[in-house]
Amino acid sequence: MSGLFITMEGTDGSGKSTQLNLLSQYLEKKGFNIVFVREPGGTKIGEKIRDIILDINNKKMDYMTEAFLYASSRSQLVNEIIAPELKKGSIVICDRFVDSSIVYQGIARNIGIDVVKKINNIATGGLTPDITFFLDLSPQEAIKRKIQQKELDRLESEKDYFYKKVYDGYKLLISQNSERIKVIDATQSIENIHKNIVNYIESIFF
Ligand code: ADP
Ligand code: TYD
Repeated sequence: MSGLFITMEGTDGSGKSTQLNLLSQYLEKKGFNIVFVREPGGTKIGEKIRDIILDINNKKMDYMTEAFLYASSRSQLVNEIIAPELKKGSIVICDRFVDSSIVYQGIARNIGIDVVKKINNIATGGLTPDITFFLDLSPQEAIKRKIQQKELDRLESEKDYFYKKVYDGYKLLISQNSERIKVIDATQSIENIHKNIVNYIESIFF
């Protein structure tokens, strides 16, 4: 594949959507062909799966069911959009990817990192991002921002200790993938974070 695959990770409310919008606009202005997708969802079928996953009424959802639903949405996204676009040479920017499943399902839900990796290897054919940004913001700060923004969905209404596990899970994942995952201090202003991300991408790829 000849394009560039960029993903953004972080706890809920850490600023991923904000930064990805800015990054897409920036790269588009530079003349690149940009495809911006989000997880779970990103395709018509995936958005339906997203609705099931995030439905506040689905409190009884089994954790393994949840992991498979994320992987199903991802499989559709990879096969319908990401892989064909990378083949064409586009820059694909994705809000969350397999790392989210490793951390949320594998570590925080405790179904195991290896199980999650296996399911997702099948779902994605082993596709790995070229670069992943982790927006580093404590879960307490992140959820404060989120509450100001909107009503919380099923996952966002998890207890504090769940988000602590997510955050610690990311730290573990980063220590194992330090080449691929670039940590960005997300306590800074929106403009400064954007500059850091752009500088990093340009220093590596352009
Ligand atoms: P995510 O996609 O990670 O859930 P969002 O981009 O939706 O996060 O941001 C969550 C909220 O925090 C939004 O209201 C957004 O405007 C605000 N926000 C994003 N980045 C910053 C920042 N650097 N400083 C302060 N508020 C921010
Ligand atoms: P979303 O609103 O897209 O995330 P955010 O609040 O970060 O903008 O909701 C996605 C939720 O799904 C979020 O709580 C993280 C969770 N998630 C997983 O648990 N596993 C996954 O594989 C993915 C992609 C997301």
